[in-house]
Amino acid sequence: MRAVMFHAYGPPDVLTQADLPTPVPRGDQVLIRVHATTVTSAECGMRRGEPRWGRVILGPRRPRRGIRVLGLEFAGQVAAVGPAARRYQAGDRVFGFTGFSVGANAEYKCLSERASFTTMPPNVTYAQAAATVDGFTTAWYFLRELARVRPGQRVLVIGGSGSIGTYAVQLAKQAGAVVHAVCSGRNAKLVESLGADRVFDYTVEDFTTGGERYDAVFDTVGRSSFARCRPVLAPRGCYLPTTGLVNNVLALRTAITGGPRVRTGMSVRKHAALAELRELIGQDRLRIVIDRSYPLAEIVEAHRYVDSGHKIGNVVINVVDVPPARP
Ligand SMILES: NC(=O)c1ccc[n+]([C@@H]2O[C@H](COP(=O)([O-])OP(=O)(O)OC[C@H]3O[C@@H](n4cnc5c(N)ncnc54)[C@H](OP(=O)(O)O)[C@@H]3O)[C@@H](O)[C@H]2O)c1
Repeated sequence: MRAVMFHAYGPPDVLTQADLPTPVPRGDQVLIRVHATTVTSAECGMRRGEPRWGRVILGPRRPRRGIRVLGLEFAGQVAAVGPAARRYQAGDRVFGFTGFSVGANAEYKCLSERASFTTMPPNVTYAQAAATVDGFTTAWYFLRELARVRPGQRVLVIGGSGSIGTYAVQLAKQAGAVVHAVCSGRNAKLVESLGADRVFDYTVEDFTTGGERYDAVFDTVGRSSFARCRPVLAPRGCYLPTTGLVNNVLALRTAITGGPRVRTGMSVRKHAALAELRELIGQDRLRIVIDRSYPLAEIVEAHRYVDSGHKIGNVVINVVDVPPARP
């Protein structure tokens, strides 16, 4: 099968096209024919071996064998099932998250049927489905599980135009919150159209000087700090950063000291979030923002673009070629 691999940390050029044996599903595994995957900021970090401390997990000198094919999100079709698999059958359209095994930058991927994936709603394409998983489920984990956002609360989403941010704005709005967002001026209209009541253009405004107080400040892109956001947090508010080792320490400290808290973590088991995602997509209640799409053969270009830090929503990789739209 065709796949994209990396054997060393570095710039996008470390990615190479490879021909690998097609995996065979064992036990409760399901073999998925991947139709679409994405390039996320998180896996561009994996490719660079950043942050450096992450190499403890990824491999100290070079990426360890099990993560050399990247690809966290996928949508595709079940091609075969292992002898003990019961939940899916060949032909099912599924979408989900590969987790620590990554590997969706390939034509096929084997996953336990208990892994974080589910059947696709019929009203979206593979590309759209793949572009929802990581961003939505991460936003869901932070806003629903950690912050438990309630109607009438005030939420600030930093990075409202990114993958996590575009879903975070929608989720917070659906929860009945007053939603403010931070992005650059060129994305302000988009973020407003997703539900933001106010947008701060970070190129000309400082959201900490507007006199606002928030129950939750969700920094989806790692461009702020607890110290900077503390003055705009309500006394029992929470700061929700998706990145930064120091924030784990602050989370422990603020749990003891009282006042505004730092809450952070990683969404790993995504079944509950995927169930809600499936429902929202099925009811046409979620906007899926796709910035650019590339064929698998051009994934190096996709990584270059995502490395810029300015993608809007999601960048899709079509593993199965999509026929051009009719004029
Ligand atoms: N904890 C977890 O479970 C978890 C899960 C997934 C991802 N992550 C982490 O979350 C981070 C973000 O992921 P993502 O995929 O959502 O990001 P992303 O899509 O790459 O974010 C790009 C967006 O960020 C905006 N942006 C850049 N600088 C900004 C600033 N100073 N203020 C506000 N917005 C700014 C850009 O807008 P402009 O072009 O307008 O500047 C762009 O639209 C990554 O570091 C990833 O590793 C954590």
